[in-house]
Order: sequence, then structure tokens, then C-alpha cells
Amino acid sequence: MVVEHHRFDSHRKRSSMLDGIATAGRHHLNIAMACAVGVVRTRPDCGVGVDGWPVGGVGPRTGALLASLASAPPVRRVLECGPGTSTLVMARAIEEVGTDARIVCMEHSCAWARIVRRRLRRHGLQRRASVLVSPLRPSGVRIGGEEFAWYSRCSAARAEGPYDVVFIDGPPATDGRPRRAPALPLLWDSINVGATIILDDGRRPGERACVEAWLGMYPGRLRADLLDIDKGLWRLEKTGA
Ligand SMILES: C[S@@+](CC[C@H](N)C(=O)[O-])C[C@H]1O[C@@H](n2cnc3c(N)ncnc32)[C@H](O)[C@@H]1O
Repeated sequence: MVVEHHRFDSHRKRSSMLDGIATAGRHHLNIAMACAVGVVRTRPDCGVGVDGWPVGGVGPRTGALLASLASAPPVRRVLECGPGTSTLVMARAIEEVGTDARIVCMEHSCAWARIVRRRLRRHGLQRRASVLVSPLRPSGVRIGGEEFAWYSRCSAARAEGPYDVVFIDGPPATDGRPRRAPALPLLWDSINVGATIILDDGRRPGERACVEAWLGMYPGRLRADLLDIDKGLWRLEKTGA
């Protein structure tokens, strides 16, 4: 994949949230942004598809933020729930910046995992990300009396931590219920203090309910704000063990 640095400047004007990423120097931001734009430059709404993928995937600003977070030293481990375009964007940025960070993904669908792995191989990024096929099963985590499913191989993913960045974009949750709520209680001990946790689809009632539940579970140990970009992103910081 060719990284087109000249595209960075015009895109950067629209991505003010990156200004706040204090750990990243300008050079690093240039590379990370260029990677994100290189991967997501052909959006489905432009009629072309994201890197050949027909639908779905993170938006360009989300991609830029993820690229920057994943490739910022000293990040070593990134956990992703629900891989896809986002995986490619992050892996590409890590490769370009040249850190030793690695992405571990949990994916419930065997077929989708195969597609993501094939894409990673096609771009020579397979050593940067691994995809654990992990069917959903009851998690034991209840919100409002309802139990939600979670990735069955979560303990294998936990063993590859601790994580500095966590991106939660799965399992699919389009019915307004907090289906991603098991993420933090089941991953908490394998997330480093100071880590950034990003939850996509932040404007949906189910994702808002997840954040509300987490803030209740970890008072004083979690900070959350909703970024008004793409589909809305919750940016959380683990501030205490
Ligand atoms: C919101 S999507 C994850 C999107 C991913 N983070 C990205 O940036 O492309 C959640 C789940 O939907 C499924 N999925 C995503 N895109 C798909 C597609 N184009 N076709 C079939 N399933 C898809 C996968 O199982 C994935 O884990």
C-alpha cells in the first residue's frame, strides 16, 4: 500500500482531536495520519469501498485516531474486539512508524476472521496483528438483569496483554442493547493503568448504557468523554487499578 503523505495536510485540518494526543510528535502524527488516510481514503459513501471492502468499517477520523494511538511509543499491545478496516489502519501505522506494537483481535465469525487475515497478508501486515476466532457465549455479565454474550476465548486474549490501547467495535450490537458491556469487567485486569479504551458507535443507546455501567463499576478509576466524530466515539482512560 502506498502511503501518500501529500494527503495528510488537507485531512489534518478536519481532525482537530489529534491535536490533543500529547505523546505523539509531529513526525509520528504525519505518518499515522497518512496511513489512516491511505487505507480509508476510498469510503463506501464515495462509491468505491474501503480498501476493497464493500460496507462497514471505521470512519476516516476514527481511523486516524486509532492509527495514532496504536503506533505511539511506548504502546506495545493493542486489543481489538471486532476487527476489519480498523485493524489494517492500525497495523499499517505501526509498520510505518516502526514500533514493536502488536494487535490482538477477537472475532466471533470464522468467515470474517479469514477475510481480515487475508487482507493483512495482502498488505504484508500479518506479523502486526493476529485474529483469534472466538465464538460468542454467555459471559456471566448482567446489566439490568440481562446477561450478555462475550468472546469465548477472552482468556487467551487476556494472556497476550497487558494492553495499552483497547478498541471495542464488536460484537455486533445494532438493537440498542448494551451488548459490549462485558468488555471492561472481563478485560479490566489485563488493561494497563493509563491505557486508552475506545468504544465505537458511541451515540447509540446501547453504547451509552455500556459507558454508564462501567463508570458505575469503576468509580474514580475511569474517565470518559464522547468525541463527536464519525459514529461518535467514547474515549475512556483507565486512571486507576
Ligand atoms: C462493527 S463491525 C467491526 C468493524 C471493524 N472494526 C472495521 O473497522 O471494519 C463488527 C462485526 O461485524 C462483522 N462485520 C464487519 N464488517 C463486515 C462485513 N463487511 N461483512 C460481514 N461481517 C462484517 C464482523 O463480525 C465484525 O466483528
